[in-house]
Amino acid sequence: MRLSLKTKFTLATSLLVLAVVAVVSALYLGRLTSQVLHQADDRARFVAQQVFLACQNALADASETGRAPRSLKPEDIREYVRTTLDNSSPLNSLIESAVGYSPTIYEITISGDDGAVLVSSDASKRGQMAPARPSVDLLVHGGFINQLRTLYGPPQTYEYSLPFSLGSGPFGNIRIGLSSTLLRDEISPGLRSAVYWALGSVLLSTLLALLVSRITLAPLERISKQLDRISAGEFDFEPAVARGDELGVVSTKITGIGKQLHDVREIFSTLRENLDQVMQGLGDGLLLFNAEGRAVLVSPSVEKFLGGRVEDLRGRFVSEIFPARHALRGILRVEGEQIESVESTEVTLERGSHPLRIRVSAQVIREHGKRMGTLVTLHDIETLERIGNQLQVSERLAALGRVTAGVAHEVKNPLNSMRLWLEVLKANMPIDPEPQQAVKMLDSEIDRLDRAVKTFLNFTKPVEINLEETDLRALIEEVLDAARPSIAKAGLELSVDLPGNFPPVLLDRQLIHQCVLNLLLNASSFTPPGGRVTINLQRQGDYAVISVSDTGKGISPEDRGKIFQLFFTTRPGGTGIGLANTFRFVQLHNGRIEFESETGIGTTFRVELPLARTEAASPASSAQPLPLAKVRDFSQPFATEKR
Ligand SMILES: Nc1ncnc2c1ncn2[C@@H]1O[C@H](COP(=O)(O)OP(=O)(O)O)[C@@H](O)[C@H]1O
Ligand SMILES: [Mg+2]
Repeated sequence: MRLSLKTKFTLATSLLVLAVVAVVSALYLGRLTSQVLHQADDRARFVAQQVFLACQNALADASETGRAPRSLKPEDIREYVRTTLDNSSPLNSLIESAVGYSPTIYEITISGDDGAVLVSSDASKRGQMAPARPSVDLLVHGGFINQLRTLYGPPQTYEYSLPFSLGSGPFGNIRIGLSSTLLRDEISPGLRSAVYWALGSVLLSTLLALLVSRITLAPLERISKQLDRISAGEFDFEPAVARGDELGVVSTKITGIGKQLHDVREIFSTLRENLDQVMQGLGDGLLLFNAEGRAVLVSPSVEKFLGGRVEDLRGRFVSEIFPARHALRGILRVEGEQIESVESTEVTLERGSHPLRIRVSAQVIREHGKRMGTLVTLHDIETLERIGNQLQVSERLAALGRVTAGVAHEVKNPLNSMRLWLEVLKANMPIDPEPQQAVKMLDSEIDRLDRAVKTFLNFTKPVEINLEETDLRALIEEVLDAARPSIAKAGLELSVDLPGNFPPVLLDRQLIHQCVLNLLLNASSFTPPGGRVTINLQRQGDYAVISVSDTGKGISPEDRGKIFQLFFTTRPGGTGIGLANTFRFVQLHNGRIEFESETGIGTTFRVELPLARTEAASPASSAQPLPLAKVRDFSQPFATEKR
């Protein structure tokens, strides 16, 4: 059982008072008892003396009136004394009044030398042997506890005995009987009042203690409430107890601590917000475990690596996030709730149908040699490689753009003059078939070269881009109208999945129309009859994502790095311009294009375009720290050329 401070205080005070009262009462009672016993003893002694005198007088009177014992035989002497005393009225009235008026004297007996009762206040005892009784001295000098035990035990009679002599030798005893019951009645009122006083003072002190504890502990209660408020996150700016004493000082200090805590909380929540923002943009998955092995920080991209939601992962233990048989458990060297330091290690995670290649590392964080926690980093290798590829391609395109612009002009002029001279040659040619054939070949080759140069020039020509808030669904429907005949002709099924409503996207309708059309036409060219072409539109964060998939022959691993290059084609009669343009146009929108392909199974192209409502949607704002910021920089030559 736990007692409150108030109860303890009250109880302690009451017990203290009780102890003091008990000691004082015991002393008082001791004194009272000893006083009563001494008084009784004194009175008994005094009465005995008086009785003795009365006896002497009675015997003296008798001898004066000439009476004498019959003989000197002891029986005769005894008989003589007995009758004399018996007939002495002063003696008898003395005995009677002493027994009647003295509160403690129970009996007065005079016995002879043989022990038989001569005279007694109790007439029935006359002639019998006087009973042997303990001396009152035993009681008077018996000690307090003993006295109390005797007085409050079974009734008993004590005796004060005064021996007296007759003539030469001892004759008998005057015995004063003192009853323990009568003695007790003398003490009891004192005892009772002592008990009343004790009870009264204990009661009074309890009440006082309650009152005092209430008054003195009230500030403590207020301080305790103040602490409760602080731990609940409410902060006072005034002390709960405004006083100059120790409690006031404590309360002021607690208020100070509360203020500090409030500031720390504010700093902490700002930091947390900043951290969340930083982590939001982080491609790597970060998991920070504290010393107990609980995840205190989980970056949003961890979802991509481990599945599950960030909110569910936060606060979980190592053993819950990496349970037995988890692919990362062995690599992270999990033991109990602890993860050991691990150098960056590559591992493939089976995530549904698509395996994810990642790099994992763990770092134990220590402070003053004490383990504070562990930071686990998950790094997506493939995405990084893809971004790297995009960078390379756009870099190449940019370089190409710069070079071709000059070279194409240099090539075009000689080409024109070559054609002129060829016409001159044709006019003056013999009719021989062989030179005629050679000139024809030259003519068609010059044509081809001319076309290539035109394409070059076309590709590097600045593009005028007209951004408009556009309903992307409607735009895709338009593209589909244009692409349907080709898809049908290729013997393919088309499936379309567009959401009911979609936020507007800021884009150049013509350019994006062309991009999507290119993707659909490619899909239909590279998919054998009976296959399927799928297009869908989704929203992912601040991006609109258009994906075009087919069940075609796929892109071979050697070609995957080249498909965005100008003139790269594997299609007989192909130009290799489609994807190069598509890439460029998507870049101009600050978007990104990615693909996944598996030979013999199919290809999926994804085009991501920023949504209109965010800042990032404006291609002009290049200061936004988007993951593809670098790609946009490389596309700048195109973007500036057009102006
Ligand atoms: N859906 C696709 N499936 C398979 N290969 C494709 C697909 N789309 C593009 N490719 C490959 O990329 C190359 C370049 O495409 P593109 O630039 O459109 O030029 P073209 O269509 O003239 O060949 C194609 O020749 C082909 O090898
Ligand atoms: Mg094409």
